[in-house]
Amino acid sequence: MYPCSNPELVAAVSEAGGIGVLQPVSLTFVHGYEFAAGLHYMRSLTQRPLGMNVLLESSSRIYRRRMEQWLSTALAQGVRFFVTSLGNPRWVVARVSEVDGVVYHDVTERKWADKALAAGAHGLIAVNNRAGGHAGPRSAEQLIEELQPLGLPVICAGGIATASDFARALAIGYDAVQLGTRLIATTECTASDAYKAAIVAAGEDDIVLSERITGVPLAVIRTPYVERVGTRAGPVARWLLRGRSTKYWLRNFYAVRSALQLRKASLDPKSSRDFWQAGKSVEGITSVETVARVLQDFASHL
Ligand SMILES: Cc1cc2nc3c(=O)[nH]c(=O)nc-3n(C[C@H](O)[C@H](O)[C@H](O)COP(=O)(O)O)c2cc1C
Repeated sequence: MYPCSNPELVAAVSEAGGIGVLQPVSLTFVHGYEFAAGLHYMRSLTQRPLGMNVLLESSSRIYRRRMEQWLSTALAQGVRFFVTSLGNPRWVVARVSEVDGVVYHDVTERKWADKALAAGAHGLIAVNNRAGGHAGPRSAEQLIEELQPLGLPVICAGGIATASDFARALAIGYDAVQLGTRLIATTECTASDAYKAAIVAAGEDDIVLSERITGVPLAVIRTPYVERVGTRAGPVARWLLRGRSTKYWLRNFYAVRSALQLRKASLDPKSSRDFWQAGKSVEGITSVETVARVLQDFASHL
């Protein structure tokens, strides 16, 4: 999770029996680690398996080269589980399969799953309409029905906060769950106390989709700041997003600006912009807990 995946949080998830997934831009740009050193630090906190998120979207060649280097370093340090999102995972599958690792691809509907299958992905992460981050258009029930026939393992992402949410996801056919919002409201996450308190206080109706940060709808808590600035991209931005070349430049501009804004809003206790990403799973989150407590509670329902 950008920018909330501090290394202590990722390691705590693995140590508690899940697979903590590191986000390389978060690790380096937000939390200030040189990539290999950050991974080494996480390894000092847990010997258990770690995963890595490979974001594929950017059309910048420099970014792609950097991601390839991060992937090589992660493979060299023994990471074998990768979560790809926002593009075609083929090159990641090719590299990871050489060492018998696995790649699970984030999908929001069947057409992306077909592409992931054709690219050789080993599993699917079904991002539903309750998810934090870039939520999909479908419910968890619709997604499992669409994706199960493909024969790959399917993970439910979105709306999982409690052990009974977890049990329900398994009962309708999912093989596992991916947690986002629930893990921000933990003692190990270094997000600001105000952000964690807002997650605890919010109900599902307080989650709105905003285009104002990344240019595409992002699930955030409706705070006074969000109400003040609105959730739609301005008319000029919308016009630029329609043109092919202007869209490219605007997306790159958004990528840099949103990285800076989210970092400040999520981690800096003095930020005046309460712009906080969260999914509808806020409904079931009633306190800040340790990661171990959250995962033990889930495990007790297996
Ligand atoms: C603050 C935040 C940041 C996120 N950043 C990323 C990211 O960098 N890459 C990604 O693939 N998914 C990202 N996600 C989506 C999560 O991986 C996950 O699919 C989603 O949070 C699940 O929904 P939940 O929040 O209801 O648990 C993010 C979610 C949140 C809440």
